[in-house]
This record gives sequence, structure tokens and C-alpha cells, in this order.
Amino acid sequence: MKFTVKSEKPAAVKAGCVVLGVYERRILSDAASQFDKTTHGLLTGLLKAGDMDGKSGQTVLLHHPRGASCERVLLVGCGKKNEFNDARYRDAVASAADAVNRSGASDAVSYLPGLELKGRDTYWKVRQLAEISIAALYKPDELKSKKDKTSRPLRRVAVNVDSNDTEIAHKALNDGQAIAAGVKLARTLGDLPGNICTPTYLADQARALGAGFKQIKVSVLDEAAMKTLGMGALLSVARGSEEPARLISLEYRGGSKGAKPVVLIGKGVTFDSGGISIKPSAAMDEMKFDMCGAASVLGTLKACAEMELPLNVVGVIPATENLPGGNASKPGDIVTSMSGQTIEVLNTDAEGRLILCDALSYCEKFDPEVVVDIATLTGACVIALGSHAAGLLSNDDALAEALLNAGKTAVDRAWPMPLWEEYQQQLESNFADMANIGGREAGTITAACFLSRFAKDYRWAHLDIAGVAWKQGKEKGATGRPVSLLTQFLLDRCRDTR
Ligand code: BES
Ligand code: MN
Ligand code: ZN
Repeated sequence: MKFTVKSEKPAAVKAGCVVLGVYERRILSDAASQFDKTTHGLLTGLLKAGDMDGKSGQTVLLHHPRGASCERVLLVGCGKKNEFNDARYRDAVASAADAVNRSGASDAVSYLPGLELKGRDTYWKVRQLAEISIAALYKPDELKSKKDKTSRPLRRVAVNVDSNDTEIAHKALNDGQAIAAGVKLARTLGDLPGNICTPTYLADQARALGAGFKQIKVSVLDEAAMKTLGMGALLSVARGSEEPARLISLEYRGGSKGAKPVVLIGKGVTFDSGGISIKPSAAMDEMKFDMCGAASVLGTLKACAEMELPLNVVGVIPATENLPGGNASKPGDIVTSMSGQTIEVLNTDAEGRLILCDALSYCEKFDPEVVVDIATLTGACVIALGSHAAGLLSNDDALAEALLNAGKTAVDRAWPMPLWEEYQQQLESNFADMANIGGREAGTITAACFLSRFAKDYRWAHLDIAGVAWKQGKEKGATGRPVSLLTQFLLDRCRDTR
């Protein structure tokens, strides 16, 4: 999809489709009202006739509106005017993208960024429009032999803004498209099945990213190299599988040479059966999504590189399968992590923390400014926060706050949980330095407590994305979260240099 900026009157614009907002109880937005005047009450007539009320998500399409220069006009319901908010704006943009795409119009001019939205500027509204429109047309049909193709899909979208805002709108479109490309990469990888998206496949994807951007350098460690480094925890998870594990590093160099990097670590379990502590079969297919943390790191690095952000970012991805097998780790096994700390593996299904802890030690070699790990780590997080917010735990309040704020801006929210000392006791083991599980209570917190023991030497935050990384049910599929949050966090870090 191609995006441009316009600053024209809605009835005068030549386009396959003009998109206008209508609020509930038949209240025209400013642009719709202008259009209505030029077309001698076409829209008011339509609303009076009862074709539309303005309810959120509603759309009505009109052909060859008399008195206007476009082929079609699409009215999009925005809900009650006094209740219009970020979520309603995003809904309106998504329904519009879907409706125009199905309409047969291959180009559209959207006046939705002209809608007034408290606390949000043109940059935000236009960037969101690009991100949402691209995401709305994503279909996970790569592996379908017959794709249900839209006959004339939407190819060009112009956003209409005030003539003073055209420059900022261009910037917003560039950023929005870069973030959308990152989100799309994360969704595509997440949606791929475990038999295709293996640790080796993830490493190849990382290399492909490195080949596409000269600022990204990629290196991949095999199991022998990990053994040399003493990564006994990561390797213990890989033991049950025939697929070899990989430790992938991507270094994006957009900042000055001496600038310490932000390190992003993504959990890359390409299939989590639970291992010997095997999971129940119901919905086990969804454990192909257990590499969504890794996918979000790749997506975020892609977005950074496309925006040429002036900072250094390193992605680290421990990638493995978690399967049962004759050689698999058993409950009670004790392994030695790269840090030297020993771990009693009481449950082989708590594998994420075992691969992350070695990655947390490994990343010290990059001399990080801050470290953020992203992981589909605990079912308990889905119980605590559902599918709306990622869990956030950190050893640094300022870092946590920056991530929370980025989530608010990007509408890809996280919510804090405590990482208090008291919870650490739950990890005590009679036989090793710690156990890999902390009992039934506060599962998300004890998982983060475990990780914190390997992140003592730097500022660190953990995002548990178990509830937000994919959708269940009819719309089953990866969401691409939290690429937007992470990219916003990085954008915020270079606010003064960009
Ligand atoms: N990948 C899962 C977490 C998960 C489960 C995410 C369901 C989304 C939905 C993780 O590896 C896991 O199995 N965690 C266990 C930990 C437990 C054994 C302490 C869990 O949450 O049940
Ligand atoms: Mn597991
Ligand atoms: Zn897992």
C-alpha cells in the first residue's frame, strides 16, 4: 500500500473513494459537513432516510455522489462525539480500510485524521492510520493453496490534513509504515507453524534482515558454541528435540560508535509442548506462538532500520523447541547456567526462563545501556491481565515508566507488577541455587524473580506478553504486539536527535 498527503476540499478531490466520519445520532464531522454543503445536502438526506446512525464501526458506501469529484464516498461511524477516543478512532480507521478494500476502489482519500481527538496531534493520528490500515489488510494465507483474493484491492491511500501539517504528516506516514512493516514481520513469523518456523528458520530470517539493511549485523551461535560458553540452562531445554537450538544476535548500529546499546531479548521457543512435564492437548497448537517475543524483536529491529533511528540496538534471540524425548531434561534435573548459578528443573514446562537466563548473561558482552526481555512466559499473566496489557516487571523505575508511557502512546499497553524481594523465597530449592518454578501463587512475578537473578548488573525490564501476542478463536493469529510499544520506546529515546 502506498501513502501520500493531500490538503484539499473533500468534494473537490478526485479519488476512487473519499472517507468521511459521522458521529452517532447523525452528526457530521467537519469534513463530512463541508462535503454535504457542496453536494446540496446529499449526506444529511442519507442520514435522515435512516441509512446510517453513526454508530462506531458502521459504514455506508455511496456511488458517484452528485456534485463531488470522487467515484465513491464512504461514511464511517465514529460513535458518540463526546465519547470519541483513541479506541474509537482506531476502530473507525480499521473499518474504513476494510470497507474501502472490499469496495472496488483502488485508491482513497481519508479525512479521518481531521477528526478532533483529545491529546492527540496530527502526527499521532496519521501514523496510527498508516499502522492500522496496513494491519487491517493482513491475512495469514501464506500457506493456503487458494487465496481468496480481493478483486481490486486498496493500493493507494492519501491522508488529508491541514496545509500547515503536510510535512509532519509525511513524517508520520514514514514512521507508521516502518512500524507496520515490523508488526507485519512479527505476525507473519508468529503465524508460521512449528514445522516451518524452527530455530534454524528464525536464524535465517535474522540473516535475511541483516542482508537487507547494512546497519544490521547478524551472528548465530550453534549448540557447540553455546556449550563452550557454559549455557547449560538453554541447552537443557533443547535436549529433547532433534531441531538444533540457535542463539541469534542482531546488532543495529544507527547511533554513535561509543553509545551503549538498548538490548532486546526475545523468547524464541518455536514450539512448546511442555517437554516431559507435557501440556494437555487442548489448544496445544497455540504453542507455536511461543516465539512471539523473538518475532517482536525482529520486527522492532526492522522498524528501527527502516526509520534509520539514531541509536544502537541489539536483539538477542535464544531459539529452541521444547519437546519430550529420550534425551530430554527430566523433572529434578539440575543444570548450571552461564552465570554459574545452578537450577533445579522441577517443571520442564517452565522452559522460557531457562533459555532467557542464559541470554541475560550472554548480553553483558554488548555492555548494555538497558535490557528489555520480551516473552510469552506465563499462563498466569493471561489470568491476571487478560489480552489487553502485557505484564511489566523491572529492577528500575525510570525504565518501567518509559515503557509504560511508550505503551500508552502506541496503544500497545503494559501494566506494572511488583518485583518484591518477598517473592524470591518461592524459588528456593533444597538441592540447587534455585528452582525453576515458584508454586501456584503469583506465577508471573516468580518467573520474573527468577530472571532478575541473572539481570543484576544492569537496568532491566521484563515484558510478559503471554496474553497479548496472539488472538484465540475465530480470529486466531499473531498480533505483532509489542512491536509498536518497543518501537515507540526507542523513538522516545531519540526524541532530541531526530
Ligand atoms: N509458553 C508457556 C506460557 C504460556 C502458556 C503462554 C499459555 C500463553 C499461554 C510457558 O513456557 C509455560 O509453559 N509456563 C508455565 C510455567 C509453569 C510451569 C510454572 C505456565 O504458565 O503454566
Ligand atoms: Mn512452557
Ligand atoms: Zn513456553
